[in-house]
Amino acid sequence: MANDHGMRRGLTRYGDEDFSLYLRKAFIKAMGYSDDALGRPVIGIANTYSAYNACHGNVPQMIDAVKRGVMLAGGLPMDFPTISLHESFAYPTSMYLRNLMSMDTEEMMRSLPMDACVLIGGCDKTVPAQLMAAASADIPTIQLVTGPMLSGTHGEQRIGACTDCRRFWGDYRGGRIGEAEINEIEGRLVPSVGTCGVMGTASTMACVTEALGMMLPGGATIPAVHADRMRHAESAGTRAMQLANENLRPSVIMTPAAFRNALCVLLAIGGSTNGIVHLTAIAGRLGIQVDLQSFDSLGAEIPVLVDLKPSGQFYMDDLHRAGGMTTILRELKPFLDLDCMTISGRTLGEEIDRFPPGFSQEVVRPLDNPVYSGSGIALLKGNLAGDGAIIKQSACTEALLVHSGRAVVFDSLEDLANRIDDPDLDVSEDSVLVLRNAGPKGAPGMPEAGYIPIPKKLAATGVTDMVRISDCRMSGTAFGTIVLHATPEAAIGGPLALVETGDTIRLDVPNRVLDLDVLPVELERRRVNWQIPKETKANRGYKKLYMQHVTQAGEGVDFDFLTKRTYVAKTP
Ligand code: FES
Repeated sequence: MANDHGMRRGLTRYGDEDFSLYLRKAFIKAMGYSDDALGRPVIGIANTYSAYNACHGNVPQMIDAVKRGVMLAGGLPMDFPTISLHESFAYPTSMYLRNLMSMDTEEMMRSLPMDACVLIGGCDKTVPAQLMAAASADIPTIQLVTGPMLSGTHGEQRIGACTDCRRFWGDYRGGRIGEAEINEIEGRLVPSVGTCGVMGTASTMACVTEALGMMLPGGATIPAVHADRMRHAESAGTRAMQLANENLRPSVIMTPAAFRNALCVLLAIGGSTNGIVHLTAIAGRLGIQVDLQSFDSLGAEIPVLVDLKPSGQFYMDDLHRAGGMTTILRELKPFLDLDCMTISGRTLGEEIDRFPPGFSQEVVRPLDNPVYSGSGIALLKGNLAGDGAIIKQSACTEALLVHSGRAVVFDSLEDLANRIDDPDLDVSEDSVLVLRNAGPKGAPGMPEAGYIPIPKKLAATGVTDMVRISDCRMSGTAFGTIVLHATPEAAIGGPLALVETGDTIRLDVPNRVLDLDVLPVELERRRVNWQIPKETKANRGYKKLYMQHVTQAGEGVDFDFLTKRTYVAKTP
């Protein structure tokens, strides 16, 4: 074996390499390894199991399967722990910790001896964090996901996290269901381990990762508890051994054209708006800028084809039965750059040509009969959108796509929580709810709070949607006429900082407009009185690092020192 492979890679610096290797082997032999095992190529496996993370509940079995694949191919698998993030177990929000997970993963990939790496992610922020790490470490890497949970039932209804979580909670807040029923539902929403069973951020990132070429074909949609999930993991282990020899690196796979393919899939699946932020961050690690304007134009060509909640009716286990990414990519073939290399060693076009023939199914529609023919996600401009804000049209109420209303402003998440259900809140169903200081620095962590609840007194009268605007994100499992990622955020003086309750806001999605009907001279007067919120200050630790270096949504909310500047390419 070459001198810089296997256990010889990245030797600890004692000033004597032979001593470093001798000491390393002495310690690792305490685990019972033979010289034969320690002489093999090493495949690292990122272990993101955590007792706090049900989305990763099958990681131990997946690691066993990856190890089996590595050993069948003659290598030595070595799993190593990294941070694990679950959406409901991360204060203040998992996005605040995504960059920390990516740094942890990148440094472990660099520091530990491995000739290739298999990353096991799943829950929303984990796959982006791992791909950001892989892009920066740039050693041969295959991405695995834990796979979606199964759907469950409540009475005669099929249910699954987390679109139904929100729907039932809305019913509970509106008094349409009672406490006993919401408690029963709580026990049924997540019937198995695995990621959310709708087209939320986890499913979106799984699908775009396969389109990007960083996952072996078919891996995005296999449910977490299916035997095929383990067989897929085994084949990733075997393929990682070949990658180690071929030295096929993430920077060769994740090109501007590959990111465009991923964005095509994001649109066709009606994917989460978070997918844009994460793809921007991953691309940024390679010096590639995601061009949001061309993404918006792409939306005019590519309709939503996948009929999954929150925009549609089915669940991820239905998408898998319908052929998963095989069916989606076959349908999207005319739009894709088929020459992009994938982690399998074949181009995307070669992979699509190897797919089995399609069959009759209802989940992935043909191009001539889409679920939604407009652009799934639109980029808004105007004096309230600043450098850009986005809206997921396919999840909107059609009647609200063009709407003018009186602003009702909430200054922070705390202010929202304190006042949204106040019976005296001056609000009507035509109002526009504005939440500010909830962006990357404001909250901090740009939480998924964009799904501002409908005020209880309106919910009780049957109001289910209103125009809502914020500088934060929204869960991919949520729905409604919701403008997100207003950039720059209010906490650094972006346009939302200047809105006052009573102002008129005009949303015109077909014309891509988000405007505040206030004269420039008045906005200037307000700007003079504006002050930086004190929450954006930090004296120590990770929060200090975060506050000093986090970027805005258009740059992926990555840290400025991790993004490769200046950009050397743009997505087509
Ligand atoms: Fe983990 Fe939804 S909470 S994927």
